[in-house]
Amino acid sequence: MGKSNIYIETYGCQMNLADTELVLGILKKHGYDVTKQADEADVILLNTCSIRDNAEQRIYGRLGNFKTLKNIKPGLIVGVLGCMAERLRKDLIEDLPTGSQSGQAGKKIVDLVVGPDEYRRLPEFLDTAFNGEKGIGVKLSRTETYDDIIPFREDGLQAWLSVMRGCDKFCTFCVVPFTRGRERSRSLSSVVEEVKQLSERGFREVTLLGQNVNSYVDGQNDFADLLAACAQVSRKTRIRFTTSHPQDLSDKLLYTIAAHPNICNYIHLPVQSGSNRILELMNRTYTVEHYLSLIDKAKRIISGVSFSTDIISGFPTETDEDHAMTLDLMKRVRYDGAYMFKYSPREGTKAYKMKDDVVDEVKTKRLQEIIELQHQISYEINQSLIGKEEVILVEGFSRKSDQFLSGRTDTNKVVIIPAEGKIKEGNYVKVKINRATSGTLFGDFQEFYDPEEQLALTA
Ligand code: SAH
Ligand code: SF4
Ligand code: F3S
Repeated sequence: MGKSNIYIETYGCQMNLADTELVLGILKKHGYDVTKQADEADVILLNTCSIRDNAEQRIYGRLGNFKTLKNIKPGLIVGVLGCMAERLRKDLIEDLPTGSQSGQAGKKIVDLVVGPDEYRRLPEFLDTAFNGEKGIGVKLSRTETYDDIIPFREDGLQAWLSVMRGCDKFCTFCVVPFTRGRERSRSLSSVVEEVKQLSERGFREVTLLGQNVNSYVDGQNDFADLLAACAQVSRKTRIRFTTSHPQDLSDKLLYTIAAHPNICNYIHLPVQSGSNRILELMNRTYTVEHYLSLIDKAKRIISGVSFSTDIISGFPTETDEDHAMTLDLMKRVRYDGAYMFKYSPREGTKAYKMKDDVVDEVKTKRLQEIIELQHQISYEINQSLIGKEEVILVEGFSRKSDQFLSGRTDTNKVVIIPAEGKIKEGNYVKVKINRATSGTLFGDFQEFYDPEEQLALTA
C-alpha cells in the first residue's frame, strides 16, 4: 500500500506528457500510488500549458471543478505543475488572476506550484502541503535534464522521450523560452539506453521530443547522430521526432532520415506564416524562400516524405495580403496536416508590446480559411492514396468498433482495416487503401511485413 493516491491530468504539448511520466516516476519511487479516478485521490496535480490564453482558462475552469471536491474532502491537496506554474508562480496561490471569474474560484484551492525544472523536489513540496503549508518551486535550471530518472510508463506501443529541454529561439509570440528556460540536452548514451529498454519492453514507436530538436548537442554528437543511434537499436522500433525549427534543419539530418527505414518519413516543420514581413516580426529567422527550398530538398532526399506544420492567424499587423501569402504557401507545400491557431498575446513576450490589432472576427475568419484549405489539401492527398499499398503499425481496435483495427503509416496517417484474429497489436502489416476522408484512410490487409527481413533484403 502506497503513501497516498496521486491523480494527474496533463495539458499542452507532448513534452508535458513526457514530463507527467517523469513526475509519476519520481513520486512512485517515493511510495505514492497512482489513481485514474480524481475522486479517489489524496493529491490532484494538473500539468499545465500556457501557450495560449484559452489553455490557461481551461485550467482555471478545472480548478473550479476541484474546488467542489475539496469542499467534500478538505485534506485534498491540489497542485499546479508545468508551464502555467512557471509563468504565474505565486499568483496561482495568492493573487486573483486578472479578469477571470473561474480564476477566482480556482486560486484558493491551490496548495503547491511547481515549475518544469523543479520536479525532483515534488516529494518535499508534497510533505509541506500535507503539513498544511503552501509550497512553490519555480526555479529554472541550466542543467536539469532528468537524465537519471526513469519515467513511469504504462505498457504500450508508443512512447514519448524528451531528449532536450527549454528553448533559446525566442519567437516573439511565444512563452516557452520563459516557462521552460534555456536549451539543454540529455546525453546520447542515456537516450539510446532508454530506447533499448522501451524496445525490449515491446514498444514499437518512440518519439524523440524537444521544442527544437535540431539544437540537440552532446559533445560531438548532434541530433542526426542521436537519431541514427536510436534507429540502430531495433529495426522493429520506429523513431519519430518533433519539433524541427526550419532554421537549423540540416542536410545531414535529411540524409539520416533517408538512410534509416525505421526513422519515419515525416517532418513536423512549423512555418507560422507565409509572409516574410510577419516572419521577421515573429523572429522566426528564415524566409518563405528558404523554407520552400528546404521542403524541396527534403522531398529530393527522402522519398515519400510528408510534412505537417503550425500556422498562426492574426499576428499583430497581419494584413489580408499577408494572410493570402500564408494560403499561397500552404498550396505550394501541400502539407499532410497542420495545427492552426489564432494569435494569443502572451505577457512578457516581445509581441505582447505590439498592438494586438487584428480584431477577433478577422482572426477567426482567416483561421477558418486556413482550416478549410488544409482540410481540402489533406482530402486530396488522401484520395490520391486510394489503390496504393502502405505499411502500417497496428495499434489496436479502432476507436469506433472492435470489428476494425487502427494503425498508422510511417507518414503518421491513421488507417482503419477490418479486424482479423491473426492480426495483433504491434504487428506491421501491408495494407491496400480503398477509401479515404481528410483525416482517415481505410484499407484491406494484404500481408504481414517484417522490418527485419526487409533489412536483409536491402542490406
Ligand atoms: N517549438 C515548436 C512549437 C511550440 S508551441 C516550434 O518552434 O514550432 C506550438 C505552436 O503553438 C507553435 O508552433 C505556434 O504555432 C503556436 N503558438 C505559440 N505561441 C502562440 C501564441 N502566442 N498564439 C498562438 N499560437 C501560438
Ligand atoms: Fe516557441 Fe519559437 Fe521556441 Fe518553438 S522555437 S518553442 S515557437 S520560441
Ligand atoms: Fe504548453 Fe509549455 Fe508545451 S506552454 S505547449 S506545455 S512547453
